[in-house]
Amino acid sequence: MCFVGSETAMATMTTPRHVAIIMDGNGRWAAQRGLSPSAGHKAGVERIRDLLEACKHRRIEVLTLFAFSNENWQRPSTEVKLLMGLFQAYLRREAKRMREQGVCLRVIGRRDRFSSSLRRAIEEAEAITAAGTDGSLVIAADYGGQWDITCAASALAKEVAAGRRPLASIDETALAAKMQLADLPPVDLLIRSSGEQRISNFLLWQLAYSELFFTDTLWPDFDQQVLDSALAAYGCRNRRYGGRNDECSQTASS
Ligand code: IPE
Ligand code: IPE
Ligand code: MG
Repeated sequence: MCFVGSETAMATMTTPRHVAIIMDGNGRWAAQRGLSPSAGHKAGVERIRDLLEACKHRRIEVLTLFAFSNENWQRPSTEVKLLMGLFQAYLRREAKRMREQGVCLRVIGRRDRFSSSLRRAIEEAEAITAAGTDGSLVIAADYGGQWDITCAASALAKEVAAGRRPLASIDETALAAKMQLADLPPVDLLIRSSGEQRISNFLLWQLAYSELFFTDTLWPDFDQQVLDSALAAYGCRNRRYGGRNDECSQTASS
């Protein structure tokens, strides 16, 4: 039995080590107010600081945020430009604060399509926060799950071609080791805001056994209460990983 909502239950329930979020719904939030998508993106960025702090208080070790997908380049160039500018400004503004909080920042995804100034801002923010040992923030920007798997496969293929790895050594463990986030705890919980119930080419390999939580809340309205609803739902999940839970095994063996 799982009691959701009581403070005791919240305090004792299982906390995910790694939470990933698809921050969706900025455009609809803006449209509801008669504003352009840019206004939604600006409001959306503002949610991140509080969220990071809330995750730290709840002892979540890693927060991974989907900020820009490989496919988001298809959007109007003014919107893409605005998003790139917001990302750069966010990195410049927040890196020091993250260092003070002991948070280590990592950006995953392609970097070759970013401007040189954005690339520099990413490198500087990662360097400033590199020593952080009190939580990790991962930002997925120009990221795609298919790109990630392709890079991992290509890295293995190169090692085989160079004679540094036997073909027979390629298995799930070898591929997993080449994927982004390989050195971090597995993603326990994926949250998507805005009511959409799809992955949109976010972490594909890494979500194999993650719990999924979808909320209708649009990203700029996402607050600690919504986070706590997701955590409460997570606390009630029975993660079996293809095996049997205790109750079932007892019934089966009796
Ligand atoms: C998510 O909000 C932000 C990015 C994809 C960069 P959207 O801009 O996709 O918001 P909706 O889905 O149009 O409401
Ligand atoms: C996914 O949202 C990407 C990010 C939130 C960064 P999209 O809005 O791009 O996804 P679709 O197009 O609805 O699948
Ligand atoms: Mg969207």
